[in-house]
Amino acid sequence: MLQVQNLAVSYQGVCAVNSISFSIEPGKLVGVIGPNGAGKSTMIKAMLGLIGSSSGVVKFYSRPLKQQLKQVAYVPQRSQIDWDYPITVWNVVMMSRTVHTGWFKEPSYQSKEIVKAALKRVGMWELQNRQIGELSGGQQQRVFLARALAQQAELLFFDEPFTAIDKKTEEIVFEIFFELKAQNKTLLVISHDLGENLSYYDRFLLMNKQMIADGSKSEVLTAVNLQKAYGHLTIQ
Ligand SMILES: Nc1ncnc2c1ncn2[C@@H]1O[C@H](COP(=O)(O)OP(=O)(O)OP(=O)(O)O)[C@@H](O)[C@H]1O
Ligand SMILES: [Mg+2]
Repeated sequence: MLQVQNLAVSYQGVCAVNSISFSIEPGKLVGVIGPNGAGKSTMIKAMLGLIGSSSGVVKFYSRPLKQQLKQVAYVPQRSQIDWDYPITVWNVVMMSRTVHTGWFKEPSYQSKEIVKAALKRVGMWELQNRQIGELSGGQQQRVFLARALAQQAELLFFDEPFTAIDKKTEEIVFEIFFELKAQNKTLLVISHDLGENLSYYDRFLLMNKQMIADGSKSEVLTAVNLQKAYGHLTIQ
């Protein structure tokens, strides 16, 4: 069970996230939605301790999440990844195994098999030797999905995984999300797209600096809540 209590983050004294509290049961696919600049990425980064928070407690099964980062797979927003970094598809995915094998150690046979299975699962096995900068946007997203899979984490955070991907890839991503859910993993997926796939989610967190609504699709995506978050209605 993931629990966030009273999380707040400021950048140079300007509040980006305030009084965020929620908890998520395992085996759930939860969508984090809200407009650009709402603090969605900031919230996830603060939960992982990648940036400092001015207040807040984040626990996973009653222990601080920061002490269990091995259990968390995080796929950052595309804009936060250095796509010119010289690294192959295989190595990006293999990096996720270092939480299990340690740095500077030769990967185990088991790790190689896990990486291979993850690359095959997302249809990127044939491109394993490519540099990540030489892939299309959708292929890059698939590689990072494979990396999250190979980590075999309990908690998975995806920041805008549907940016730059086509319908077919989107279907593969949701299929994989459902498989992870069936394995009782917890999935937190940021998306500012209030598109067609809303019914795939078990629950939504609607935020704009603060939490505006938390609950099922019908509870959260009301005209009043969307007005509060976006300032205008964006849902059909
Ligand atoms: N490193 C930073 N320094 C200063 N301000 C920042 C920094 N990163 C983000 N911000 C500001 O914090 C606020 C929240 O940003 P954040 O990236 O968390 O929003 P978001 O909800 O993820 O938006 P998007 O949908 O565009 O990805 C914004 O106003 C942004 O300008
Ligand atoms: Mg963001």
